[in-house]
Amino acid sequence: MNTYHAIEWLAEGKLRLIDQRRLPQELVYCDYTDYHEVALAIRDMVVRGAPAIGITAGYGMALAALYSPATDVEALRADLCAADAVLRAARPTAVNLFWALERVLRRAADPTLPTVAAIREAVLAEAHAIYAFEAESNFRIGQNALPLVPDGAKIIHHCNTGPLATGEYGTALRVITAAHEAGKRVFAYVDETRPRLQGARLTAWELQQWGVPFTIIVDGAAAHIMRTVGIDLCVVGCDRIAANGDTANKIGTYSLALAAKAHNVPFYVVGPTSTIDMTLASGDDIVIEQRPAEEITRFEACQIAPADASATNPAFDVTPAAYITAIITERGVIYPPFKENLARLMA
Ligand code: MRU
Repeated sequence: MNTYHAIEWLAEGKLRLIDQRRLPQELVYCDYTDYHEVALAIRDMVVRGAPAIGITAGYGMALAALYSPATDVEALRADLCAADAVLRAARPTAVNLFWALERVLRRAADPTLPTVAAIREAVLAEAHAIYAFEAESNFRIGQNALPLVPDGAKIIHHCNTGPLATGEYGTALRVITAAHEAGKRVFAYVDETRPRLQGARLTAWELQQWGVPFTIIVDGAAAHIMRTVGIDLCVVGCDRIAANGDTANKIGTYSLALAAKAHNVPFYVVGPTSTIDMTLASGDDIVIEQRPAEEITRFEACQIAPADASATNPAFDVTPAAYITAIITERGVIYPPFKENLARLMA
């Protein structure tokens, strides 16, 4: 069980985040009252992971409402629109950010809210509801995945999809921890996940808290482990699933899916329905975030590549639906054909 909370609303009107950049060396909390700072925290990856980004943005809007100097409802709604614009520019790929912001804006626009105080209260309630939705989804995902995990399973996991990335139990990582809690013997191969090392730093730390046995591998070792050790399934999270099932997730996911296909290993994408974007026909329409070259050419303070060496740093890739065995959501497990089955799920 996790004893930490990546995201917490404090009763005195502050947002508290674990600074995930400093884990596992230090468990440091940062408090926020200014939504501009919250947007920077998302951009700079103090908080990261698609559902966690959405929850954080919801609370960013709650801060915007709480600390707005507006004295009438029109002015407060205008301030919320300004906050929405700042928060939605923080990162482009995870649809949860936009999903959460739209939920909050819709709630704030309710014409039956008569006063500034009523809008403030409604916005905070919506942020709490977003958190509660993700927490409940995480739990259901673990239950829905249980039949797919055999006793003794060896599982490859990419990036970080635990409570740090989602607010509560996790998504792809929850598949592993739920099986462990249910008494199944599971062993995780944790992709280190270059260049930010979410696997080696965060997933390894979280699996230690849950007491699940694991070993860290470099991303390039996955195919070798499949061929030599044998892997029962791969589980990955998602930042945006298009209507045809194409899935954007942390860079390296597509290579893992290709290797899984070549070795007949089931490849599961795991995420809440808040990550499904039915407005995009295919993964070709998903915006892939490009992050600074220094994430590759440097390691913290240490220069690795030659000075001025060029580096290209797409933070995500798109795995075509054809490489995905099933999508595990809180509403159930979806199999191909994804276009039809996602439409039914989301109807
Ligand atoms: O760049 P990050 O760390 O925000 O990327 C995180 C991922 O790609 C996760 O796999 C995804 O957001 C799902 S989190 C449950």
